[in-house]
Amino acid sequence: MVTPTGAISATALARHLGAWRPAGPQPTYRALADAIRVLMLDGRVPVGTAVPSERTLAEALDVSRTTVAYAYAALRDNGHLLSRQGARSVLRLPVQVPAEPVDLGAEGDVIKLNIAAPSAPEQIVHDGYRHALECAPGYLAGTGIYPNGLRALTETVAERFTHRGLPTAADQILITSGAQHALRLVLDTHVSPGDRVLLEQPTHHGTILALARHRARAVTIGLHPEHGWDLDQLESVVRLQRPALIFVIPDFHNPTGLLLDEAGRIRLGEISARYRVPVVVDETTAELALDVAAPPPLASFAPRGAEIITLGSASKTVWAGLRVGWIRVDGRPDTYALARYESDIGGAVFEQFAAQYALSHLDDFMPARLAALRAQRTTALAAIAEHLPGAVPVRGVGGLCLWVALPQPAATATAAAAAELGVRLIPGGSFGPHGGFDSHIRIPYTLDSDTLARGIGLVGQAYRQAVGDAVAAPPSSDRGLPDRMVV
Ligand SMILES: Cc1ncc(COP(=O)(O)O)c(C=O)c1O
Repeated sequence: MVTPTGAISATALARHLGAWRPAGPQPTYRALADAIRVLMLDGRVPVGTAVPSERTLAEALDVSRTTVAYAYAALRDNGHLLSRQGARSVLRLPVQVPAEPVDLGAEGDVIKLNIAAPSAPEQIVHDGYRHALECAPGYLAGTGIYPNGLRALTETVAERFTHRGLPTAADQILITSGAQHALRLVLDTHVSPGDRVLLEQPTHHGTILALARHRARAVTIGLHPEHGWDLDQLESVVRLQRPALIFVIPDFHNPTGLLLDEAGRIRLGEISARYRVPVVVDETTAELALDVAAPPPLASFAPRGAEIITLGSASKTVWAGLRVGWIRVDGRPDTYALARYESDIGGAVFEQFAAQYALSHLDDFMPARLAALRAQRTTALAAIAEHLPGAVPVRGVGGLCLWVALPQPAATATAAAAAELGVRLIPGGSFGPHGGFDSHIRIPYTLDSDTLARGIGLVGQAYRQAVGDAVAAPPSSDRGLPDRMVV
């Protein structure tokens, strides 16, 4: 059973297909069927998308209608297309691939390419805790419970929004225990079991997990490796599916590093207003501009009637160990504050002071952190070119990860082989709510250059084993379970 999630126009499908025509003796219809199947397996066109009619696709591709009819028949025969009476056929997977489970394996001497989180800027974190101790005497006499967050921190976060082009008052901010927690609070408030939530795919794995826990149904739009967001398609999905929320990562998207331009931000605001659907903007990676500056926050483009809920975090700029994030809304975040109070009363006071100190010094230490990330990304790209020939990373412009298309769809087998070699690697399927993406892996460049180069070398070895040997070896018992935690 597959739920139709939206329709793709013939022109959009033709654009995604690019140069699909057979170079060799393969029949044209077969090449077309293969190319459509790969688009779906790669997640560029989501499972559940209704394909164009034979006639319109034939026109858009300038082929005969019979070619398209044969291609669709071939897809149907191998279970990749479901035809429905009186409705457009829908792409589907022959076997549904479940999202990757989270196994918290033993810590060990392994290279963790599963985590996209930088280590702390030590001096700043030290200074932040000293600052917390200095501030403490005034607070120790009180209860220490602040469901909206410490005022000093909400003010600092609000100032940063204002500095980035979105005027914000401290009252509009709710402090959370990281962006993942912020997302949970938003889902608690807006989403009931069975509701649909629109996501990009690929997307942040934690979002997929949170939706699954809420028993929400993910509907998706694919991200094009060059053009990014197809907002016509997004609007069509919203119109057809009426999701309870739209969830996007417009700034240096995890895992692709893509950036949504101003026009796209304006359009998303309009879609929110027109369809009365809140847009959740995850800005966890928004301060990680490596090549180009980000436009102002998406919420600054919102027209009257739009509802934009912005999530942020200190995890990628400062340190994930602080567990400090936030929600920004227009108006007061009272409903989320209540949800936070119900979930864990409030955040730890000292961590909030340390975060407040670090966030108010971002401009002092971020240039060096961004320079280190750029250098590590250069190392990662060189290592990929050397050890994974033919692999194509998306040319993102910031963030922490490279989203890499492998020459062959062998990501799961590569990850299994990499675990044997001491590298934790997450196959692409973990970044799609319906799986797929088996020709993709995510390579974070948050480790130091030497470790990265070594890790990617081993991933290359694992890939060669995987494509040479279709059946991956089971993990050896002495290593325990591979750590599947994805951040
Ligand atoms: C896009 C995105 N959102 C949320 C999170 C979770 O961040 P936090 O540590 O603030 O919970 C991450 C971490 O990887 C992320 O990349």
